Amino acid sequence: MRQEWFDRARFGMFVHFGLYSGAARHEWVQNYERLTDEDYRQYFEHFDPDLFDAAALARTAKETGMGYVVLTTKHHDGFCLWDSKLTDYTSVANTGRDLVREYVEALRAEGLKVGLYHSVIDWHHPDFTVDWNHPRRDDEGAAELNVGRDMAAYRAYLHGQVRELLTDYGDIDYLFFDFTYPEEKDGWAGKGPDDWDATALLALCRELQPNMLVNDRLGIPADFVTSEQYQPTSPIVRDGVPLTWEACQTLNGSWGYHRDNTDQKSPTMLVQMLVDSVSMGGNMLLNIGPDGRGAIAPRDAQTLGEIGEWMRLHRGAVVGAGYAAFTPPREGVYTRSGNRLYLSLFSWPMGFVHLPELAGKVSYTRLLNDGSWLETSVSDPEREAELMTPAGEAEGTLTVHLPVRRPDVLVPVIELTLTGQ
Ligand code: GLC
Repeated sequence: MRQEWFDRARFGMFVHFGLYSGAARHEWVQNYERLTDEDYRQYFEHFDPDLFDAAALARTAKETGMGYVVLTTKHHDGFCLWDSKLTDYTSVANTGRDLVREYVEALRAEGLKVGLYHSVIDWHHPDFTVDWNHPRRDDEGAAELNVGRDMAAYRAYLHGQVRELLTDYGDIDYLFFDFTYPEEKDGWAGKGPDDWDATALLALCRELQPNMLVNDRLGIPADFVTSEQYQPTSPIVRDGVPLTWEACQTLNGSWGYHRDNTDQKSPTMLVQMLVDSVSMGGNMLLNIGPDGRGAIAPRDAQTLGEIGEWMRLHRGAVVGAGYAAFTPPREGVYTRSGNRLYLSLFSWPMGFVHLPELAGKVSYTRLLNDGSWLETSVSDPEREAELMTPAGEAEGTLTVHLPVRRPDVLVPVIELTLTGQ
């Protein structure tokens, strides 16, 4: 079961770090601003990750309740965070540091699973052809730029670099390739699985790291699907078969450090997204973009700290939990782990929450944050609700009695122990 640890962990950290972190205005800056290699070069020359502390990063992930971390080895700009022998466009060339090595060692020391992100797109490589996603697409006579570019040579480079990453850094648990866009646009071709020789690349992954999970962005199916910056509304199923899936999410809409972007999601919203994902049998990969010096930005550290405090008390509702085949009440979502059913409440109702189908199926009910017992009752479905007596709920409904004051946590969770399950 290759993905057993993944299903259990449910919550991981994505880390986007590279030259764009110093540019500090989105990891697509080179593309958005149509920057030439020469324009972009200053970020290479001045790359100075003096505060990139892999041990602190790993500790933060662990304290946030995450089970794995996924670091960008190379993003679309082509800059490599490891000691690649196939290019001098690396962090070793400008800082003497192999950041991927620092990272994998730090993760293992914390007992976290090791994930890598690798862009199959490369705007720096001279053989990577210009297409509708390329920063050079609007140049005068841009089509001419492809004369002499040789995707076969780029493919050899791509496969060679993946081989390095999967050979020289010990066991890798997870690989996130990014991404495929086969459709034509604005008179340009896109790039599809054949451009990467996706089949051979996946075979290489299987050969070098047989236990590693691989995502679906080579354009061919692999081990899990990756919804990006949106939440599905039900478990993801294809041809009747439930898929392993992970939603990747940002803190402010940008993956790379974006100094002036203040579109920060609240910790409450993020916890809701996390339990929502788990309730549909999925994972959440939450991104941070370390700043130009490699530090976790204070606003992100604050958010992770609050999520970590929630996870300290509510871990059971997430880690090792998954989809529950009961209809949740309108106030929240269910997750389930063995005989424990967890109700995460997105709104706090007055006095009672009514749970369809659960009468007679629950032996004990408590608030998870402080372990305080909650009274339950089953009302008579024949009776009308009247005056001060709740009634009239559907047959089989279990009513949980709640304190008026909502517990002071980001998302309150009620834990129900199921009988005879
Ligand atoms: C995208 C973007 C990218 C980001 C990634 C994360 O496809 O191109 O910048 O790294 O998604 O999922």
